[in-house]
Amino acid sequence: MTRRLARPVGITATGQYYPEKRLTNDDLSKVMETNDEWIRSRTGIGSRHWVEKGVGASDLAVPALQMALDRRGMKADELEAILVATVTPDTLFPATACRVQAAIQAKNAFGFDLSAACSGFLYALTTGASLIASGAYSKVAVVGVDVMSSILNMEDRTTCVLFGDGAGAVILEPVAEGLGIMDFEHRVDGNGGCLLQMPAGGSRKPASHETVDAREHYVHQSGSEVFKSAVREMAESGRLMLDRNGFTPTDLKLFVPHQANIRIMEAAAKRLELPLDRMVVNIDRFANTTAATIPTALHQAEEQGRMQQGDLVLLSAFGAGFTWGAVLLRWAF
Ligand SMILES: CC(C)(COP(=O)(O)OP(=O)(O)OC[C@H]1O[C@@H](n2cnc3c(N)ncnc32)[C@H](O)[C@@H]1OP(=O)(O)O)[C@@H](O)C(=O)NCCC(=O)NCCS
Repeated sequence: MTRRLARPVGITATGQYYPEKRLTNDDLSKVMETNDEWIRSRTGIGSRHWVEKGVGASDLAVPALQMALDRRGMKADELEAILVATVTPDTLFPATACRVQAAIQAKNAFGFDLSAACSGFLYALTTGASLIASGAYSKVAVVGVDVMSSILNMEDRTTCVLFGDGAGAVILEPVAEGLGIMDFEHRVDGNGGCLLQMPAGGSRKPASHETVDAREHYVHQSGSEVFKSAVREMAESGRLMLDRNGFTPTDLKLFVPHQANIRIMEAAAKRLELPLDRMVVNIDRFANTTAATIPTALHQAEEQGRMQQGDLVLLSAFGAGFTWGAVLLRWAF
């Protein structure tokens, strides 16, 4: 059974923002025991952008959303909702969505943050689309943003080289029949929680001298277990989208996977029997920006003219939780 929205909803504009400071693998090799060859061959990453001290998620989210609004020719006060997917909010509360609302003066919008790590943008996309499909809303902004550099342990070379900072934003609106989101599937398996997490800083283990000394307010990960699960679930959820909607891989114009590791992405594409030239890749320049990878990849593909109205596009993600899912859509503009 497909998960069809009660009325067609699609992305009508995109935007993105990366902080200025760019670090190559060679830059990292000057401050830790690593090298360009290892990082590139194991992950596909060549460089990443990191914020300067004192810059929060909303500082990246605001210009990304403003770009999407400008490209749509929409004023901020037309927005009715702002959903921000992030695991690195400016503060635990108030929500980053509230800061974004105030900064862009979206005075008629409500908003909230959604925490699903690297799957966050897909969860927020279909949540925002469902608000519109309900008939109660017609203009919703969805932002995927993360400042991963704020939670990286620079003494753990197995994780800190993998992540970058960035924001991607989309505008969702009702669209013509046959366009927009066609189907989606989201899943969670909390048993995988301990394999990719930030152990301290929440209610279970509030930040203390001890947690800071133990570096528990940083990303902890079992790389190889995450790797295997990510390949399996991204491929299977993608396959589900194709099978239950009667499509073959060659019907897809583009595959836009979460950018965790080029080897994960290529393995998932292979299992989907998809030619690699249909996969959108930005991990080489921006690394894993968590909730921002898919909206920024969509923005870049759109800017490069890789999608036309009506093209079939598959989005697929996997992240901490474990969380994962896929969205099948027809590009709407
Ligand atoms: C993290 C990851 C790149 C590691 O790749 P891998 O091929 O499994 O590498 P290993 O962990 O087996 O490490 C191999 C060696 O490289 C070393 N190494 C690790 N990080 C290194 C670095 N940055 N530079 C140089 N060497 C490094 C290790 O210490 C190890 O050395 P050893 O054999 O002497 O012990 C890979 O497991 C991965 O990408 N996992 C998924 C992570 C992810 O995407 N998370 C987010 C999901 S949303």
